[in-house]
Amino acid sequence: MSFSDRAPVRATACGKLILCGEHAVVYGRPAIALPVTTVRTTVKIEPRWETPPRIEIQAPNIKSHFYADTDPGRPLSRIVCNTYEWCRRLNPAIPAQNIVVTVTSDMPVGSHLGSGAAASVASARAVAAWLEINLPVADASALAFEVEKIHHGTPSGIDNTVIAYEQPLWFIKDVVSELLEAPQQTEDLLSCLVVAAVGFSTPTKQMVDVVREGFRANRLRFNQYFDDIGFVSVRAREALLAANWPVIGQLMDENHQLLQELNVSCKELDALCIAARKSGALGAKLSGAGRGGNIIALARSSAHAAELRESLLSSGAMQVLIG
Ligand code: MEV
Repeated sequence: MSFSDRAPVRATACGKLILCGEHAVVYGRPAIALPVTTVRTTVKIEPRWETPPRIEIQAPNIKSHFYADTDPGRPLSRIVCNTYEWCRRLNPAIPAQNIVVTVTSDMPVGSHLGSGAAASVASARAVAAWLEINLPVADASALAFEVEKIHHGTPSGIDNTVIAYEQPLWFIKDVVSELLEAPQQTEDLLSCLVVAAVGFSTPTKQMVDVVREGFRANRLRFNQYFDDIGFVSVRAREALLAANWPVIGQLMDENHQLLQELNVSCKELDALCIAARKSGALGAKLSGAGRGGNIIALARSSAHAAELRESLLSSGAMQVLIG
């Protein structure tokens, strides 16, 4: 098999939103995640002409340019090399590769839209496509999960799963990973979900540690918060399947309040949630790890989503997209 004269290959992966259940999901409670297909990460692989053969990685969005052999611990080096090894187990004849891997994304880094997991899933897909090996979705997700551990320490696995499957997901860590068969409801919900970024972020690992400290200091209280959040997810699942948007909105408000109790919100996220509710949103909550990143607000209709977008921008949101 010759790779040197090949045309470039490209693969992509979507972003994600956590509708409800973040943080509690790390402690075994259920959560719901949604794919966001309006933003994508793209990975291109093309031949490299310099010798000796190396894997050169470029990520212009984060102004990074490095080699997998000299920077093996970086998440992008790991996912590319792990996927290469995974493919070699299926076809040991695959030679060492001399390639340039370029990662670009329209997801702002640190927006908590899953940019890290999307880069991993898209890279795994691109490497497998380049090596002409079929990569099942479950394996793309598993390869990305290993790298998520570098980003997040003790990830639940929800981000890599929803991004790899690109479908709404009902998720309980190590127990259930169920794709919700509700394409129309999900499409309708996403067309009314307004995602507003505060313009800064705190690493997910740090926020998971904040919750862990709170949990260690007061297990009884935090277990109650996690149970309450889990119950939000149970009711949100029913409401999603029944397309009951007012109930989803109330549950988003309830979830946000519980995330405030977990100490993962901040004044900027709270202010955007309040602004969204004042502008008629059915509900609003932070989405993802918190203390930065974004909020999601549920508009009453897609026309109202466009209005909500404008009012969130004038209330200080740095960037607003409609799911
Ligand atoms: C991050 O998108 C969601 C968290 O619950 C972390 C995790 O589940 O790994 C904060």
